[in-house]
Amino acid sequence: MNNSFVIDKDKYLDLRDIKNVSEYLKLEKAGQIIKNGGLVLFPTETVYGLGANGLDAEAVKKIYTAKGRNSDNPLILHISDIEMLGKIAKDISDVEFSLMNAFWPGPFTIILNKTDLVPSVVAGGLDTVGVRMPSNEIARNLIKFSNVPIAAPSANISGRPSGTNIEDIYQELGDKVDYIIDGGDCNIGVESTVVRVIDGVPHILRPGKITAEEIQEIAGNVIIDKHILGKLEADSKVMSPGMKYKHYAPNTKCVLVYDKDNSTLQNKIKDIIDNCLSQKQKPLVMCLSENAKYFKDVYSKELNKDNSNNVEIFDMGVSLDDMSKSIFTDLRKADKCNVDLIIIQGVSPNGLGLAIMNRLLRACNYNVI
Ligand code: TXA
Ligand code: MG
Repeated sequence: MNNSFVIDKDKYLDLRDIKNVSEYLKLEKAGQIIKNGGLVLFPTETVYGLGANGLDAEAVKKIYTAKGRNSDNPLILHISDIEMLGKIAKDISDVEFSLMNAFWPGPFTIILNKTDLVPSVVAGGLDTVGVRMPSNEIARNLIKFSNVPIAAPSANISGRPSGTNIEDIYQELGDKVDYIIDGGDCNIGVESTVVRVIDGVPHILRPGKITAEEIQEIAGNVIIDKHILGKLEADSKVMSPGMKYKHYAPNTKCVLVYDKDNSTLQNKIKDIIDNCLSQKQKPLVMCLSENAKYFKDVYSKELNKDNSNNVEIFDMGVSLDDMSKSIFTDLRKADKCNVDLIIIQGVSPNGLGLAIMNRLLRACNYNVI
């Protein structure tokens, strides 16, 4: 990726290729900006964060304004070490400690009772706070330099796919931040697993790279919130305000297609493609490599007069890890292809597949075949 899109070099730090740990010292300036109430875009292992001093209510308000986020949707506080935890959370149980112990640093957020030090605006008015210790070294060094917990939602305008590379994010938020740290593409690509422990049982409020199976192994029990794959009704009570809002949506119409049997899945997708073509519409298919290869073979002769293809095909890789890494970038890219319909292959909702299906269902506005 070239970074020619960055206009103001004074507010951009390129840490895409760190060869020596001394390069983390360059984060001192960004740490000062956070401490002094500014907004900083920074990488984590999941998605990029739009960060501010999590103990400074005025700084945190800027996050909500920049994203256009509802004020009742709380933010996650990011910490660099376990000493920071005691300042922001209290009454932590053994089960909660064992989960943090197992999954930190990493893509795991836990909802805890907050202390008075955490401004109400961070918590969206609740008496709890989401806490995460990221494994990304740039993120943790940034927190160390700022010496405060960093409040950070995913870096995107509310409702849009989360940002996993600076180029995508710059277009949406570049002019609203004081500083930008480029750490290249995020490794995981979907946001952290969010968990709240109730009566000793972990409830997954948002699925992510840390799976239900892994949580169950630590806590002996796990409950997957019913809203993770189910559509929210107008009167539904939610444990996490984020569940209420529109998410990850491209502007183009999307449909999610799933079947346990892959050849049935291919046929279902083929029917939709053929239907589009018969109506002179252009479809785009996002799918795993095996299926991308199949559709490329089937539709290789479907060329327009100008030799451009009538069917766009995005290969999302060979594994669930590949798929989660490219999901948001591909949704944005697909949206720019000027097609009539985006057709997305679903996956079995186990392991990381649960997080993928949770994001895709929302991206497709529950339009499932
Ligand atoms: O991977 C991630 O978690 C990324 C990176 C930047 O760390 N952050 C992220 O933040 O995805 P955000 O704000 O986009 O999503 C946080 C989710 C929201 O759905 C929010 O409602 C929920 O976590 N959440 C935060 N605090 C909560 C709380 N106290 N109680 C219930 N849900 C909470
Ligand atoms: Mg988000």
